[in-house]
Amino acid sequence: MHIDIISVVPALLEGPFSHSILKRAEEKGIASVQVHNLRDYAVGKQKQVDDYAFGGGAGMVMMIEPIARCIEALQKERTYDEIIYVTPDGKTFDQPMANTLSMKQNLLILCGHYKGVDERIRERFITQEISIGDFVLSGGELAAAVIADAVIRLIPGVLNDETSALTDSFQDHLLAPPVYTRPAEWQGMDVPEVLLSGHEAKINEWRFDASVRRTKERRPDLLAKSGLVKGELKSNKQ
Ligand code: ADE
Repeated sequence: MHIDIISVVPALLEGPFSHSILKRAEEKGIASVQVHNLRDYAVGKQKQVDDYAFGGGAGMVMMIEPIARCIEALQKERTYDEIIYVTPDGKTFDQPMANTLSMKQNLLILCGHYKGVDERIRERFITQEISIGDFVLSGGELAAAVIADAVIRLIPGVLNDETSALTDSFQDHLLAPPVYTRPAEWQGMDVPEVLLSGHEAKINEWRFDASVRRTKERRPDLLAKSGLVKGELKSNKQ
């Protein structure tokens, strides 16, 4: 997979892709991310990328021409499966969306700033508008990084067994169960006995029940999507 990101503050995206799992994905040749500075596509001495909003009001609007020039230049290099605009008024990002995007070859993500982009950019080029939650960031860069991270880690070969995506929270509309490591006893706090038993079937049952219980308590809205009848527990202990 290749992800291109268009930004007016490319420095904000220098960190996330040069560490840990995302770096490994790049080194293995499974995924690559390239950040493009929108200002390189602006004209004039000022390299202007924003302008006053028609109709007045506070806040600047990102101009059409630099964005159109940048997208069209990138489209000469690649055919994009999706051209995504990250914006608080987009569809709220979730695990099923990450799963779907992880199966694509080429993604282009446009980061908004100021009051956002001229609407005609959205109409002409954008195939998906995504928000990462009901709050407003100062720009789309961190949202783009969140989406790229969630998507890249799902591509086969990126994660090893210990970090398998199959047991993530949300993968089956359940939150992940609690996890423990050594020491087995710490300041009077014990690890649940079953996890030390080596009995795989019992451990799986305990983890499933703990997932259901946790989801019931914290995210009952998810439980409805999980297909579990009234959040039934394997052990039938509610
Ligand atoms: N840009 C600003 N806020 C955002 C959000 N919540 N999601 C995506 N892009 C954004």
